[in-house]
Amino acid sequence: ARITLRQLLDHAAERGYGVPAFNINNMEQGLAIMEAAKACDAPVIIQASRGARTYANDIMLAKMIDALAEIYPDIPVCMHQDHGNDEATCMTAIRHGFTSVMMDGSLEADAKTPASYEYNLEITERVARMAHWVGASVEGELGVLGSLETGESEAEDGHGAEGKLSQDQLLTDPDQAVDFVTRTKVDALAIACGTSHGAYKFTRKPTGDILAMRVIEEIHAKLPNTHLVMHGSSSVPQELQDVINRYGGDMPQTFGVPVEEIVRGIKHGVRKVNIDTDCRMAMAGQFRKVALERPGEFDPRKFLKPAMDAMRDLCRARFEAFGTAGNA
Ligand code: G3H
Ligand code: 13P
Ligand code: ZN
Repeated sequence: ARITLRQLLDHAAERGYGVPAFNINNMEQGLAIMEAAKACDAPVIIQASRGARTYANDIMLAKMIDALAEIYPDIPVCMHQDHGNDEATCMTAIRHGFTSVMMDGSLEADAKTPASYEYNLEITERVARMAHWVGASVEGELGVLGSLETGESEAEDGHGAEGKLSQDQLLTDPDQAVDFVTRTKVDALAIACGTSHGAYKFTRKPTGDILAMRVIEEIHAKLPNTHLVMHGSSSVPQELQDVINRYGGDMPQTFGVPVEEIVRGIKHGVRKVNIDTDCRMAMAGQFRKVALERPGEFDPRKFLKPAMDAMRDLCRARFEAFGTAGNA
């Protein structure tokens, strides 16, 4: 059955669990998430980026979600727009059956510059008002994702000297978070705490100086009833790096967000945990393995089935670690 982000995260807060939000672009990823959820009785958040919507087509995605909900009638499904960057993206998502949207006003719509606070406040408030009219939920974001190691933001062109962002911009300010949530009325708030998107988050196992979980604790203390969202939350497990590299890949050593840090976040108000890179790596490792071990293989299913199984196992491990399992 369909469920909004607000309904799901309210339940998660009541029971003290977190929900991974996995990105999808195709049928195999959708089936992998649902198989994992069914195996451990977990509710799901399936999210599509703007890139996913372009890749798969809105109608394809919408009907795929219908199909998944029909195939797995006992699993509550929240369908969420990941990183909506303007009103049109959010409204067209809702029109295609998404029950939740992210209005990411932390960057300007062109994603090249960090946005002003006023810009973020205004556009997020407007999207929240419109989405709430029609019963959809809204996630906002305050703070720019980026590395505390290098000062590089995800905006291509950071403000300030040498294009680097300050710690201030890379870490959500708790007092500003209170103002933002109160004024925009978002259902969930994505925060910046030193994580970034993709595989190359940290050059070493992160400690408190580069992964600022304390910021989450401070925000939660001021906003105990707000559902917090962690972006860039792939753990980039060593095993997945090893599989890719064993079968002809060439990924330099890297470190993600340890699962135990996320579990700590969940104790302090984190309810939605965005994971895409880990799923991509799980699948890509299997593509490489089949390609290298069976050079004569050309049936796409022989590549996609092991990839789907690897993603399913990854999803299930996160459902279990975050306490989502058993809560469908
Ligand atoms: O926010 C980033 C997600 O991993 C989606 O990535 O825009 O390449 O689909 P994408
Ligand atoms: P990862 O790249 O760490 O998987 O983060 C995904 C994400 O935040 C999607 O919004
Ligand atoms: Zn994200």
